[in-house]
Amino acid sequence: MAEKKILMLTKDLFIGKGGHQEAYVHPDDPSKCVKIAFDPNDGDVKKELRYRRICADKLSRSKLVTKYYGEVETDKGRGLVFERVMNFDGASSLDLKDYLSAVSTAEEVDQSRALLMDFRKDFLEEGIAIVDTDITNFMVQRVSPTETQMRIVDNIGTPVLIPLVYYSDYIARRKARRVWNRIVDWLKENYPSVVDEKFYGELRA
Ligand SMILES: Nc1ncnc2c1ncn2[C@@H]1O[C@H](COP(=O)(O)OP(=O)(O)O)[C@@H](O)[C@H]1O
Ligand SMILES: [Mg+2]
Repeated sequence: MAEKKILMLTKDLFIGKGGHQEAYVHPDDPSKCVKIAFDPNDGDVKKELRYRRICADKLSRSKLVTKYYGEVETDKGRGLVFERVMNFDGASSLDLKDYLSAVSTAEEVDQSRALLMDFRKDFLEEGIAIVDTDITNFMVQRVSPTETQMRIVDNIGTPVLIPLVYYSDYIARRKARRVWNRIVDWLKENYPSVVDEKFYGELRA
């Protein structure tokens, strides 16, 4: 009889944690990560899985949202397996907050603005449902020594009971535009050297 395999999530595999979950490199496949919720009944995790289930088709075509591969058993309880956001050299990618905090030279300012403009285009086009402006859920993936792209790893879905955004692309895009403008306001407030008055006008939708 085949026994169900239990993955061992050792300390060396730890990537990071937020308020609800921690992430580890998948022990058998470094291109994937395993996330463990602190609370097995976490509402945010359920919300995300519901969104991923109902909008599976759309999300399978998304450039921004990481792929989901299902559940596994681990020594830390039930884990969910996702595509791991990592750089071309195999290192873990930075989240947008750490990335922007390290921006200082004029060249880096230009690069970060280009990254945000690309993100703006994809995010508005795809109309991804996200809940708040927490930029630690966006990761900056270095796909080559000169190219970066943004990825969304968390906080997708909506707490709304009957989520029209799941069924209408038009409503999804309209809602995404509103959330985007809140993110841009937040960025202007917190990273004024990147999002100055002039760039703010370009970045708003
Ligand atoms: N798919 C992923 N690839 C790489 N790192 C990730 C991935 N998902 C999450 N992480 C890392 O783990 C941290 C916590 O995960 P997150 O999903 O944001 O949990 P929480 O719900 O607690 O905010 C993230 O901030 C990020 O550093
Ligand atoms: Mg998070």
